[in-house]
Amino acid sequence: MNKLILLAFGVIFCFTAINAQKLENEAKVEALLAKMTLEEKIGQMNQYSGFFDATGPAPKDENNKLKYEHIKTGMVGSMLNVRGVKQVREMQKLAVEGSRLGIPIIFALDVIHGHKTISPIPLAEAASWDLEAIKQSAKTAAIEASAEGLNWTFAPMVDISRDPRWGRVMEGAGEDPYLGSKIATARVTGFQGDDLSKENTIAACAKHFAGYGFIESGKDYNKADVGTSTLYNIILPPFKAAVDAHVATFMNSFNELNGIPATGDKFLQRDILKGKWNYSGFVVSDWDSIGEMEEHGFAKDGKHAAEIAANAGSDMDMESYVYLNHLKDLVAEGKVDVKLIDDAVRRILRTKYALGLFDDPYRYCDEAREKKMIRHADHEAAALDLAKKSIVLLKNENNLLPLAKSGEKITVIGTLADDKTSPLGNWRLASDDETAVSLIEALKARKGNEITFVAGPKLLEKSPMFHENSAVNTTDRTGFDEAVAAAKNAETVIMVLGEHGMQSGEGRSRANIDLPGLQQELLEAVYAVNSNVILVLSNGRPLAITWAAENVPAILETWQLGTQSGHAIAAVLYGDYNPSGKLPMTFPRHVGQIPIYYNYKSTGRPGPKWEVFWSRYTDETNAPLYPFGFGLSYTSFDYKDLKINVKDKEVEVSVTVTNTGKVAGEEVAQLYIRDRVASVTRPVKELKGFEKFALKAGESKTVNFTLTGKECGFFNNQGKFIIEAGDFDVMVGGSSAKGVTGKFTLK
Ligand code: BGC
Repeated sequence: MNKLILLAFGVIFCFTAINAQKLENEAKVEALLAKMTLEEKIGQMNQYSGFFDATGPAPKDENNKLKYEHIKTGMVGSMLNVRGVKQVREMQKLAVEGSRLGIPIIFALDVIHGHKTISPIPLAEAASWDLEAIKQSAKTAAIEASAEGLNWTFAPMVDISRDPRWGRVMEGAGEDPYLGSKIATARVTGFQGDDLSKENTIAACAKHFAGYGFIESGKDYNKADVGTSTLYNIILPPFKAAVDAHVATFMNSFNELNGIPATGDKFLQRDILKGKWNYSGFVVSDWDSIGEMEEHGFAKDGKHAAEIAANAGSDMDMESYVYLNHLKDLVAEGKVDVKLIDDAVRRILRTKYALGLFDDPYRYCDEAREKKMIRHADHEAAALDLAKKSIVLLKNENNLLPLAKSGEKITVIGTLADDKTSPLGNWRLASDDETAVSLIEALKARKGNEITFVAGPKLLEKSPMFHENSAVNTTDRTGFDEAVAAAKNAETVIMVLGEHGMQSGEGRSRANIDLPGLQQELLEAVYAVNSNVILVLSNGRPLAITWAAENVPAILETWQLGTQSGHAIAAVLYGDYNPSGKLPMTFPRHVGQIPIYYNYKSTGRPGPKWEVFWSRYTDETNAPLYPFGFGLSYTSFDYKDLKINVKDKEVEVSVTVTNTGKVAGEEVAQLYIRDRVASVTRPVKELKGFEKFALKAGESKTVNFTLTGKECGFFNNQGKFIIEAGDFDVMVGGSSAKGVTGKFTLK
């Protein structure tokens, strides 16, 4: 009891201390704002990308010379793409010692999945459904990034997407707003910790606000036309979760939403974010997204774009230069109210105070810490842990997996098997090429089996760089026949196929989502001579691998798993880790089924009732290849005894899960509901709870869920959250496709 009282006092004390600190910071913000000229205020709203010779004499290149001078005169609030203690310190010095008020710069980078130690790509992390491990991944990224002088990451990307053609699905948490919201919270709290001013935490950024994941035809930067029901119930919830987790910043988005570029959208930024949600952080534009409103046909020139964006609530201009060039005139002309400028600057300064930059602008600049923390053994261990948890077993006929520990002749085929760069995935700006453990390295490090590696034909014409696309090889068949011949003599063939890490990500949309290049042909040719094939997929998006799913006996989805990739895959192949991942995104049978997602709405003709006139394709089934939430294990789990108890304000649901196989394993029990009749139609299934747990062979566990109004209600078309009485279906199972079912009525 005494302990409880002490704990309560402790919590109250912390709370009061945090609030007191906030109030003190607010007073400091006001005092500083009162000293600033309009130019200095506009300077804070300006963000530049880095230039390389910051530490030398003033740069010679005209543009960089200008940036350099602007930093010294307080015309730059933030820099992106500058990292490393030495560089950051030099630039910070320019701002702090050079400018009149010495306001420190906030340094940003896209720290998306790890920093130098690379974690699985975010889509893979989401497949772990392990919120603690995901939070830890963001935490270690923050430790490494802050050790390199950074204090702000442009992550997490919380865009929900139903379109695997879009290359940026690798950066998100998949298709579901409930899972997406939980992961948004985990990532934000991982990056930011409980105190932003600590030297090992960094400000997070919820992006891209909003609708980017719904761009038409999956083609990057395209427009999005989204109905209100989808906006409020699918797109916005993860952003709101980030706000509730106190995310320090937001980024708006390249796309237009229903005819208004998101960057210039007052409804999104002022009415919803800063109005309804009462958000006190700031909004940064996406790269040149203010300037790009001209190309959208929404602004007549840069000045007009600056006017629209500032009025709409875009607080910081990333690399458009239009705030710096035009805001002063726009204020003088009465087109932008100085109160809005003050509001934006207040938000930016507030964040800088929260980061502790005014107490010590060099807080994040400690060479010794930089040396010690980069690729720290603990970070590699956490990356390995999450990499194992992110792998999804899609098929395992006749228990082909796990492999025997010894005595087998295994042939490994596919250039991705010995690639040390591709597993790092896209969006890993700080990491060096060739720093991942390849699968071949990991397999060869294990004694016991005879491992032969044959690369087969190359996947790409040349190795792609961040700013380049690389053509897929469809003509050079060198190595093809050799691979097929090697497969003939093997007992087991492991084929490592999929996409290079740089084939997904920004600007990497695909119209075909099959195995690119010669890989499908190679897979079929190998299978023809030896059907004992284990397909190890490596990719940044769901792929339509229907032939493989119907023919190849074992398939392991390994995404791009980061620096520890090879060890993680080998651990699963050998059964040292029993796979536990579940798909965060539906895999289609064919690209023509896209958008395909589990939480679709019923039509008036869901069928199959008539021969012709029901909602379907004439040449493909409606079913996906692999549904959302799906993933196998080396053991099996049985669900039974669904119990539902409707209480006054809550519904309690419980189920018994038993490990019915021979080995220990982890399962993710998922709860779905369907609101049968509502004033705005509801999806046929909606995830509303999940729990990941381990069970020994033969062991059972009762899993409990509580549904409240929050889970049972929804947003109507006016954006109002409502809870309606009526009948609900419940399903609890190991995927969105199958489970034990029941019903309840909400009074
Ligand atoms: C991306 C953002 C990213 C920014 C800065 C843009 O191209 O859309 O997500 O944060 O660049 O690198």
